[in-house]
Amino acid sequence: MSTTRFLTGITPSGTPHLGNYVGSIRPSVQASRRADVESFYFLADYHALIKIDEPARIQRSTLEIAASWLAAGLDPERVTFYRQSDIPEIPELTWLLTCVTSKGLLNRAHAYKAAVDQNLAAQQEPDFSVNAGLFMYPVLMAADILMFNAHQVPVGRDQVQHIEMARDIAQRFNHLYGEHFTPPEAAIEESVATLPGLDGRKMSKSYDNHIPLFAPRQQLKKLIAGIVTDSRAPGEAKETDGSALFQIYQAFANAEEAAAMRQAYADGIGWADAKQMLFERIDLEISPLRERYAALMAAPDKIEEILLAGAEKARKVATPFTAELRRAVGLRDLRTAAKPSRDVKASKTALPAFKQYRESDGQFYFKLSDPGGRVLLQSAGFGSPHEAAKAIALLRQNGTLALTEMKPLLQQPSGVSEDQVSLALKQMMAAE
Ligand code: TRP
Repeated sequence: MSTTRFLTGITPSGTPHLGNYVGSIRPSVQASRRADVESFYFLADYHALIKIDEPARIQRSTLEIAASWLAAGLDPERVTFYRQSDIPEIPELTWLLTCVTSKGLLNRAHAYKAAVDQNLAAQQEPDFSVNAGLFMYPVLMAADILMFNAHQVPVGRDQVQHIEMARDIAQRFNHLYGEHFTPPEAAIEESVATLPGLDGRKMSKSYDNHIPLFAPRQQLKKLIAGIVTDSRAPGEAKETDGSALFQIYQAFANAEEAAAMRQAYADGIGWADAKQMLFERIDLEISPLRERYAALMAAPDKIEEILLAGAEKARKVATPFTAELRRAVGLRDLRTAAKPSRDVKASKTALPAFKQYRESDGQFYFKLSDPGGRVLLQSAGFGSPHEAAKAIALLRQNGTLALTEMKPLLQQPSGVSEDQVSLALKQMMAAE
């Protein structure tokens, strides 16, 4: 049976809440039990450094999140569960990938662009208070994913662009150095609802509307009492649509329980009673986990041991793979003779190329040839070398799009199809 490799990183930057549980922990633990899935889960503590400069908070959060996943039933024997910073090959791969990543790609990353836009709106320098870690974030994330050649990366929508960038980076590396990486795909769980918070907006730490996953019973009860409702009195029928209380209940209830709650709403259940039902339902699911969590939190040495064992397992893949990649890029033992044939140069010269030249009519021309020297495109004459160069730059940047715009200036030799020219331009763009 062929297995699909899943990989997910969790940034240890806070205490897990019910939204994390419903949206990520619970579905991931379930998926990790499937026989056709091989899972990698890790604490992305290098990523946490980008936004947190409180060492104690990173340590605390790493402990809490590891304990939460284990309490929720993640089986470290079955999956590979590790801490990013225990794998020195990850930052090493980050550097190899950094050197094949165009800076322009990173300029376009949403998280970086959002920071720049905020600065501009506040009339600051574009990069004001942006650390280079934030800028490099997508490359570190690509290294996480590509190191284990993960097929599927379960993420929220906000992370999809990062997976696309990891694909780009993988393809670029493969193009230069041979097929080492599997381009990953984002796996967006459509059926997993985002949980509303106490105020009805998405539950999030940044809105301060969250319920800590392992809040003690009394605190859980108190927080649930604070969920916003409308002012309908007991006896009045209630709306389930748009009711945060109902949505949270639904995330924990089975179909029958949800139907019963819907009926209770229609029958005019009082908000206090509905909240009591929600409290009991959440507590029913969470209280066994809460006990395991408390036991784990009291035994950090045990968690440390689990993570170190996970790192050892992960490095069984990472160490030999990194050795292969080092060799591929040319970081090599000098005693082994260099074999130039399959090296970078060879793959670089295997690209189509533009050539600029001057004819006896005094005009400046260029042509595009395939690696075998066949002419694919011939330009008309330009008045200056600068104009010809500008036309080439347009083609290199915009590919097929520019081809259409510049049609009157270009000529295809007979026997060359438009598709061939498009493909050549695409190959060159991919190698930029
Ligand atoms: N960036 C992810 C987040 O903040 C965490 C993360 C780091 C990650 N590396 C990853 C997720 C690799 C998936 C794959 O949510």
